[in-house]
Amino acid sequence: MPPALIRSQDVLEELLSPGQVLELDQESGNRDLLRGVEILGLAGPFRAVTPWELEDPKGVRRIAAGGYAAAPFGEGYPKLRSFVAELLARNRELSLPQQSASPWRAALSFNLVQLLSELWPSHRSSRVFFSNSGAEAIEGAVKFARAARPRATHLINFQRGYHGKTFLPLSLTPNPEYQDLFRPLLPGVITLPYGDAGRLEDAIRRVGPDRIAAVLVEPIQGEGGVILPPPGFLRALGNICRRHGILIIADEIQTGLGRTGHLLESHAQGLEPDILTLAKPLGGGLVPVGATIARAEIFQKLLGGLSSKRHSNTFGGNTLAMAVGLRSLQIIVEEGLVQRSHQLGQHGLERLQQIQRAYPACIEEVRGAGMLLALQFAPAIPPRAIPVELARELSAELIGLLGLRVLHLSGVQANLSLSSKRTIRLTPALTMPGELFGAMLDRVGKAAEAYPSSAQILAKTPKRLLGALLKFALEA
Ligand SMILES: Cc1ncc(COP(=O)(O)O)c(C=O)c1O
Repeated sequence: MPPALIRSQDVLEELLSPGQVLELDQESGNRDLLRGVEILGLAGPFRAVTPWELEDPKGVRRIAAGGYAAAPFGEGYPKLRSFVAELLARNRELSLPQQSASPWRAALSFNLVQLLSELWPSHRSSRVFFSNSGAEAIEGAVKFARAARPRATHLINFQRGYHGKTFLPLSLTPNPEYQDLFRPLLPGVITLPYGDAGRLEDAIRRVGPDRIAAVLVEPIQGEGGVILPPPGFLRALGNICRRHGILIIADEIQTGLGRTGHLLESHAQGLEPDILTLAKPLGGGLVPVGATIARAEIFQKLLGGLSSKRHSNTFGGNTLAMAVGLRSLQIIVEEGLVQRSHQLGQHGLERLQQIQRAYPACIEEVRGAGMLLALQFAPAIPPRAIPVELARELSAELIGLLGLRVLHLSGVQANLSLSSKRTIRLTPALTMPGELFGAMLDRVGKAAEAYPSSAQILAKTPKRLLGALLKFALEA
């Protein structure tokens, strides 16, 4: 190895200091993202001390409630870790089976279809296409829908929805911050208010059902800030689409596999999709796995006969991903994590509601389903008092960032919400022990007690930090 290069052994043996790690990561990676979190004191690098707790470079432990809902068991969960060690030691199947058969891929797709058909018998013969991220799973879903309805060039999505940031999913993620630079996006996207079945019916009538390939919907909007649709909305959406022959794509990348206290949230809400996307937890918090599951006749339209290579990727279905996916699904089922998420999450939501009622000037609203929990911070400055839209948005973003910092200072590592600036989400591991889950809620309560209003959060933030954040924001 040339001396200028870093050896993998150096990293394994922790020879890089935290300062060096941050510097190197900024030097050759997404510098400004890391600078932004560094200003807030959130850049780490963090290490896992237990599957559910992280330690920062100063040795401070925090409860892990971040990970953007992709770490269902936390970090280094023993059952998954020992399985992967055994896999690497014993497996003799090809790592990248690609166009040849694979027992790992076969087993995972079989189990996924099996679980799906227990919920919806009509999915008995559905098929799975594997990919490497949520965005790619959405890409596949839309291509399946378009191939199945080739004359229908329109798609319906919903305000505040989030489906990823590669180009096609970005076209369906109606957030100007992410979309504006890239217009024109995919044409024919009709964005409707989330939760309004009447508007959906009107739009279909106006555009014509034969011109609409699919409706893409999250059964609970995750990055939108954990927005639960009004009761009956998804059932109505399903009925409307069926009546008009429009396909339904349920994006369960964030909600699926137990996060919301149900195996699949769409099923719990009475929606039967034609195409389903999964990702995040399927990779066990360890490897990227995306899955697009479609009814057989839809699958065939895109990937039938000589066209079976029409949509493909190099790494989808690889052995490590499939084996981890298979084991993750097994852990979720065997450990009863769906029910656990339901019960603990219900308790968590009640505690957060109490905290909200005690400190409404700090936490304006809480929302949640299972272990997908959200705290919406109150505006620090009333939006009415800010005449300019951009400044209103910056102010919302600021309070979200400071809210994240306040939780961090109180010992809880949480998530931002990419399409809801003032909302911070708690997405702890579904395996988190009850006492730690309780301690996490206590710490949120202590944070609200220490900062009883958003104005106080702002007032108590060091001026130097606010100045650095402002400078950072203006640089962009
Ligand atoms: C509902 C939903 N769909 C799609 C995505 C995109 O997934 P990825 O970040 O793996 O591309 C996300 C990510 O947060 C998501 O929450």
